[in-house]
Amino acid sequence: MNRLRPALCIRGGCSYIRLEGKVAIITGAASGIGEATAKVFVENGAFVVVADIQEELGLKVVASIGGPDHKAIYKKCDVTVEKQVEETVAFAIEKYGTLDIMYSNAGIMGPIESILDMDIWKRFSTVPWQ
Ligand SMILES: NC(=O)c1ccc[n+]([C@@H]2O[C@H](COP(=O)([O-])OP(=O)(O)OC[C@H]3O[C@@H](n4cnc5c(N)ncnc54)[C@H](O)[C@@H]3O)[C@@H](O)[C@H]2O)c1
Repeated sequence: MNRLRPALCIRGGCSYIRLEGKVAIITGAASGIGEATAKVFVENGAFVVVADIQEELGLKVVASIGGPDHKAIYKKCDVTVEKQVEETVAFAIEKYGTLDIMYSNAGIMGPIESILDMDIWKRFSTVPWQ
C-alpha cells in the first residue's frame, strides 16, 4: 500500500477510496457520531450494518444513506447482550459475505461534572496502580 495516500478520503477529496468494498458494523449508528460515521463509510465505498437499539431511527439512517445499492442495513442490537452482538456479526457475514471493521461506538454518557467537583482520589483509588 502507498503510505503517502490518505487514510480516509472524503467525497471529492481524492480518487482513492480506502473503504471500497469493506464491510463494517457500527454500533450506536442510529444517531450522533455513529450515524455520521456510517454516512462517511458508505460515501467511501463501505457496506455498513447500522447496529442500534433504536429501530425507528436506525431504519431512517439506512434510508438516508443506504441508496439503491443497499450499502447500509439496519440490525437491532443491544451491545450489552452478548447474544445480540454475536447475531449481528453473523448477520453482517450472511448479508455481505465478510466482516472487516467493527466500530464499537454505542454508549451512553454519564453525568457531566465539573472538574472542580471531581473527587480525584476516590476515582483513582478504584483503578489498579501499576
Ligand atoms: N458526544 C460526545 O461529546 C462524546 C464524548 C465522549 C464520548 N462519547 C461517546 O461516543 C459515543 C457516541 O456518542 P454520541 O454523542 O454520538 O451519542 P448519541 O447518544 O447521539 O448516540 C449513541 C447511540 O448509541 C445507541 N445505544 C445506546 N446504548 C446502546 C446499546 N446498549 N446497544 C446499542 N446501541 C446503543 C443509542 O441508541 C444512540 O443511537 C458514545 O459511546 C459516547 O459515550 C461521546
